[in-house]
Amino acid sequence: MNFEYLGLKKLIATHYKEANLFTQESPYKLEYIGNKNGNRMPDPNAFITEMIGTGDFRSKECIALLEEADIVVTNPPFSLFREYVAQLMEYDKKFLILGDQNAITYKEIFKFIRENKLWLGYDNNGTKWFQVPMDYDIPTESRKKIKDGVKYFSMGRILWFTNLDTTKRHEKLTLYKKYSPEEYLKYDYYDAIEVPRVVEIPVDYNGVMGVPITFLDKYNAEQFKIIGIDRYVKDNPNYGKRFTINGKEIYARILIKRKE
Ligand SMILES: C[S@@+](CC[C@H](N)C(=O)[O-])C[C@H]1O[C@@H](n2cnc3c(N)ncnc32)[C@H](O)[C@@H]1O
Repeated sequence: MNFEYLGLKKLIATHYKEANLFTQESPYKLEYIGNKNGNRMPDPNAFITEMIGTGDFRSKECIALLEEADIVVTNPPFSLFREYVAQLMEYDKKFLILGDQNAITYKEIFKFIRENKLWLGYDNNGTKWFQVPMDYDIPTESRKKIKDGVKYFSMGRILWFTNLDTTKRHEKLTLYKKYSPEEYLKYDYYDAIEVPRVVEIPVDYNGVMGVPITFLDKYNAEQFKIIGIDRYVKDNPNYGKRFTINGKEIYARILIKRKE
């Protein structure tokens, strides 16, 4: 629908179908190059062809399509998120993809975040509603809605991950709190202060600070430097483990430092 509006040259979509002896359905791809039809919605069937394999993103067939693309936009299988992102990086693609908030804490993903090769896109607060087939079973009433004959399923903590520039990653986080050793505790085995909420990052502390992973949505690389993530920071004496304060485990923390 927005093909002309976005000034696209070509749109490719692939449909994955797990190998299944009991169905006749084949994986297929859609390739659209515009139909010079103004903004009239074309019939998608006219642009569909069968694929040879299952449509697995790692297959030669899909990689050939990937190589042709400039920008990848998708909701990839979350269980294969590490591999999916690694492939996008390997082929040096621009991308805008959905992923679970927890993926931030994966060692392989965090490495790209720290190197400023991957960041969060827009609209990452609260719940996202996903269109699903009408027969899709949603046991929880509050996570279900039907509007204009279309069924939606809500999921929290699903974020946009991207390497396309945004304006928000150049905006400075406004802070107001001053550091005091009484208010900001230190971790048991790591020299950094614990900041339980992003808004409480002190304006005047020059050492390392541990902040919740929601910080990433506000991260501006001109304002802060990312040192690492608790479990996998090089000098964590309990490498692989979260930090503690008085023996009590603290939830996932990103380690940052002021730049100015
Ligand atoms: C999070 S769902 C997103 C579905 C759909 N793209 C959407 O946005 O509604 C991830 C999809 O990836 C598909 N998938 C799983 N393994 C895959 C693979 N190896 N290659 C390609 N797709 C795969 C799943 O079948 C599933 O439909």
